[in-house]
Amino acid sequence: MAAPPNPTLMSTKHICLRRLIPDDVQLLCRLNNDEGVMTYLDHEPPSVEEVSFEVQHLIDYYTRWPKFGRWIAEGLKGEFLGWFSLAGSEQEMPATLELGYRLRRQYWGMGLATEGTRLLLEYAFSDNPMVERVIGTTMFINEGSRHVMEKCGMRHAKTFHLSFEDPLPGSEHGEVLYEITKEEWKKQQT
Ligand SMILES: CC(C)(COP(=O)(O)OP(=O)(O)OC[C@H]1O[C@@H](n2cnc3c(N)ncnc32)[C@H](O)[C@@H]1OP(=O)(O)O)[C@@H](O)C(=O)NCCC(=O)NCCS
Repeated sequence: MAAPPNPTLMSTKHICLRRLIPDDVQLLCRLNNDEGVMTYLDHEPPSVEEVSFEVQHLIDYYTRWPKFGRWIAEGLKGEFLGWFSLAGSEQEMPATLELGYRLRRQYWGMGLATEGTRLLLEYAFSDNPMVERVIGTTMFINEGSRHVMEKCGMRHAKTFHLSFEDPLPGSEHGEVLYEITKEEWKKQQT
């Protein structure tokens, strides 16, 4: 039987975003196992079972929120770059969305996270009238991720501290929350 169609939902000059399918588990495990990808996320990459569970959860999310969620990022030749996400908690959806990104190490430093984030902000604010605010969080010390959000016009709103059973190195500096409102984004486009 032919594979179900899995079309590109949005694209930029270098990135095509498509929905996740169950077969993406292997790609995501490869991404999580890339050296350095987990530095600011966890001590160890999640197991195949954990990733499979997560992928099913993310696929189910499309049923509740068809316009949001996590998407696989591919290059123009179909190469796997990583993922981007725009999703939120049930309490805050769809007024507040949180963006996220994770790219394979070999594609870092090429401006791809910035390109994808700008696309998601435009999608959030110009295609979805209910969206009022987009936020992003990361560790205080994750300078690359912070820089992406700053370059995309997001503002550092607060630094906060969480308690972890087994904290990552650097978590004593806390976590940061960045945000941008629809009004701020619109002003930046003029
Ligand atoms: C964070 C991540 C998505 C950035 O992707 P990327 O495609 O390399 O990002 P870009 O190239 O668009 O921009 C990164 C910017 O940060 C800068 N940067 C990267 N590492 C940096 C560091 N350690 N200190 C200061 N600046 C840094 C880059 O120079 C670049 O800025 P510039 O364009 O002004 O030179 C990528 O490193 C990644 O996937 N990391 C692992 C997962 C992760 O940490 N995700 C975020 C967790 S919430």
